[in-house]
Amino acid sequence: MPAPATAPPRDRAAILCGLAGWLPPRVVTNQKLSQRLDTTDTWIRSRTGISRRHFAEPGQATSDLAAEAGRRALRSAGVDTVDAVVVATTTPDRSCPATAPLVADRLGLTGAAAFDISAVCTGFVYGLATAAGLIAARVAERVLLIGADTYSTIVDPDDRTNAIIFGDGAGAVVLRAGHADEPGAVGHFDLGSDGAGEELIMVAAGGSRQRSASAPAAAQDHYFSMRGKEVFRHAVTRMTASARTTLTLADSKADDIDHLVPHQANLRILRAVAEDLGLPPQRLVTNVESVGNTGAASIPLALADAAAKHTIHAGERVLLTAFGGGLTWGSCLLTWPALTRIDHPHDTGGTQEP
Ligand code: UT7
Repeated sequence: MPAPATAPPRDRAAILCGLAGWLPPRVVTNQKLSQRLDTTDTWIRSRTGISRRHFAEPGQATSDLAAEAGRRALRSAGVDTVDAVVVATTTPDRSCPATAPLVADRLGLTGAAAFDISAVCTGFVYGLATAAGLIAARVAERVLLIGADTYSTIVDPDDRTNAIIFGDGAGAVVLRAGHADEPGAVGHFDLGSDGAGEELIMVAAGGSRQRSASAPAAAQDHYFSMRGKEVFRHAVTRMTASARTTLTLADSKADDIDHLVPHQANLRILRAVAEDLGLPPQRLVTNVESVGNTGAASIPLALADAAAKHTIHAGERVLLTAFGGGLTWGSCLLTWPALTRIDHPHDTGGTQEP
C-alpha cells in the first residue's frame, strides 16, 4: 500500500514541563515529638523511616503552601499563564469554596478554570489524569496541578500513631499540550477505588453525614483517624497491583522502569512495593525520611527532590503509584522530560525547633 501523502497527526498528550516543591520552614524532629508523645526517635525511624517533617505555622493554610509551590512551578516552566488550576488536597482552607480559585487568584491567574480534587493521598495521580484529560479534550492548553496538604491541622497532636507520620508541604507541576511520543508525556494511567474501605481513613465530623445527625460531633471526630495496620496491607497490595496494571497497559515490564516514585507513606511500605514489583532498591525514589507523609504533595515533592538532586535524568522511565483514603489508588507512567529549572523543596530557609 502506498504511504499516505502526509503523516497522520500524532496523539495529543499532556507534557510535564514545570516542577517545584515547597515546604513550610518549621522543621519538627522525632526528638521534638517525643517530648510530647510516648514515643522515641528509634521507634519512629524503625517503623516508618521518618526522621523529621515540616509543619505549617499557626495561621498558615493549605492555599499558602499551594501558592508557593505553584509560583515556583510556573517559574520552572517559564510561563505566567495557564488555562486551569487544579489543587489536590484533603485539607482545603474551607469545606466551601474550593481552594484552587483562591490559589489561582494569588498567582495572578484569575479567570482560569480552578477546582479541587479530593482523593486523599492519591490526589496527585488523579489530578494528573484529570489535567491530561482537560488537555486531550482541548479544554486547556496548559494546566497547573498542585498537590498540597497541611495534615498538622487535622491530626490530633496527642495521637502518637498518626502525629509521627504526617507532615505539611506542597508540590506542583505544569502540564502543556504536546504529543504522546514527547518526553514528559503523562500516561498510561490506572485509577481505582473501593468505598467499602471508607472507615479505614477518615475525618468523621464536619461533613453532611455528621451535620445531618441529631447529636453534635465529639471533639475527637474532627481529627484524622486511620487504622494503620490494615491501611499498611492495602497500601502495599493496591500500589503493587496498580503499578503492574499500568505497566501492562503500556506494554512494559518492571525492568523497563528506571525510577519508582510511590506515595511516600512509610519507608517499609515503599520497600515492600518495590520488592513485590521486582525492582532493586536503588530504583526506588524516597524522601519520606525528611518530609514524612505529606498526602497529595508527596509524589511531586519526591519528584522535585530527586530532580533537583539530579537522581532522575531526561529520557528515563518513571512510574508513579499512590494509595490513600477512599480507598483510592492510581499509577502513571512517564518518560522524564528535560526540565531547565527546579528549586530544591528544602530551600525555604528552614528552621529547626529546639
Ligand atoms: O497516606 C495514606 C496511607 N497511609 C499509610 O500508608 C500508613 C500505613 N500504616 C503505617 O504506616 C503503620 O501502620 C503505622 C506507622 C501507622 C504504625 O506502625 P505499625 O507497625 O503498624 O504499628 P501498630 O499500629 O501495629 O502498633 C504496634 C505497637 C502498638 O503497641 P502494642 O499494642 O503492640 O503494645 C502501638 O501502641 O506500637 C505502638 N505504637 C507506638 N509506639 C511508640 C504505635 N505508635 C507508636 C509510636 N511510638 N509513635
